[in-house]
Amino acid sequence: MPGTKIGSKTSNKRMTFFVCFLAALAGLLFGLDIGVIAGALPFISAEFNTTTREQEWIVSSMMFGAAVGAIGSGWLSSYLGRKKSLMIGAVLFVVGSLWSAFAPNPEMLIVSRILLGLAVGIASYTAPLYLSEIAPEKIRGSMISLYQLMITIGILGAFLSDTAFSYSGSWRWMLGVITFPALLLLVGIIFLPNSPRWLAAKGNFSEAQRVLDRLRDTSEQAKRELDEIRESLKIKQSGWSLFKENSNFRRAVWLGVLLQVMQQFTGMNVIMYYAPKIFEIAGFANTIQQMWGTVIVGLVNVLATFIAIGLVDRWGRKPTLILGFIVMALGMGILGTMLHIGINSAAAQYFAVTMLLMFIVGFAMSAGPLIWVLCSEIQPLKGRDFGITVSTTTNWIANMIVGATFLTMLNTLGNANTFWVYAGLNLFFILLTLWLVPETKNMSLEHIERNLLSGKKLRDIGSSD
Ligand code: BGC
Repeated sequence: MPGTKIGSKTSNKRMTFFVCFLAALAGLLFGLDIGVIAGALPFISAEFNTTTREQEWIVSSMMFGAAVGAIGSGWLSSYLGRKKSLMIGAVLFVVGSLWSAFAPNPEMLIVSRILLGLAVGIASYTAPLYLSEIAPEKIRGSMISLYQLMITIGILGAFLSDTAFSYSGSWRWMLGVITFPALLLLVGIIFLPNSPRWLAAKGNFSEAQRVLDRLRDTSEQAKRELDEIRESLKIKQSGWSLFKENSNFRRAVWLGVLLQVMQQFTGMNVIMYYAPKIFEIAGFANTIQQMWGTVIVGLVNVLATFIAIGLVDRWGRKPTLILGFIVMALGMGILGTMLHIGINSAAAQYFAVTMLLMFIVGFAMSAGPLIWVLCSEIQPLKGRDFGITVSTTTNWIANMIVGATFLTMLNTLGNANTFWVYAGLNLFFILLTLWLVPETKNMSLEHIERNLLSGKKLRDIGSSD
């Protein structure tokens, strides 16, 4: 039976769309900031004459900031609310982008990238949380994959704008241009409603009801959702004490940590941050070739994310992940072998690029989105905020380690060995996936939680018996 209409159906749909669009814009900024450094770095190092160490720090200072931001945003988003947290994130995006564009020396650039990192850390925790609390139930699942899609579109956008500015060599414009989407986010957030779940958690039920009335089609729907929120609030979030007391919960937290370490140590961000450098190693000496090669990497990353969106609920998480690790191990392994033999002909160069792209497909169709999906599924309700804070922070710390060691690895181990190390890690992750990762396809979160807390093996917490 159709319920009582509140406001107009179209205006409520428009409101929901606007809210989701803005949260997705935060994903886009996350991607822009990850992607921008690859194309800017060669020009920055030429202008400042930087050492390898300095270059690694320019890259990884952002991940350091992001780790701190992710730790802090659990508290921030529950104390100040999701909307205010996102607002702080957006202000930091604007300030950090401008500051980095005007940085007079490598030190200031590093400081500005720590600020940008704080913004990315806050966004990477708060935006998906806000999305999952605002989006209607029917589309909640696809929202996380959509968020990952926005990250990849952001990375591609940054690669494209880097390429456009590379003709003039203006790295300051490459970094500075991100101020515009950051301002758009900031202005948009002013019009965002507070999350109804957060309002209810603060005891402000009438305001929560008002927001839901603006977002849902009928007042019955809005009321039902508020009742559900009220029900779920009876379960108090007690992450840290649960972590100390309950060894079953600890297993879920460690699994979240492991999953994020696996995602980062595939080596994906080595390519995201140092793509032009890798093209140079593969024999493409011309900067313009390197830049366009990098754009193709970004495009393949976006397109292959659709494979994951299509497979995740049909094939399931585990087979898709395993296939992804196999493809990544092959890509990195063959690339390493070619670097070992020497890349001496045009045909060999293009084959090396194909292997690089194969690796990207492997990541984007599996670990890219799936690790985020799994991390949000395995935590029991009582400890969800804590569990996701820990895994998101791990993502950034591991990301920083990868970014901060790649050039040193190339210098000390050599090109071929560096790629072989990553190939070996991807092979190892196949075993870890078989051993520890559960299949959560078509399983309700309550069911997964019951299995986890009853002590079932991690790999079985998604099974129905
Ligand atoms: C990862 C990022 C990575 C991006 C690439 C995300 O899932 O967390 O570290 O740069 O995917 O598309």
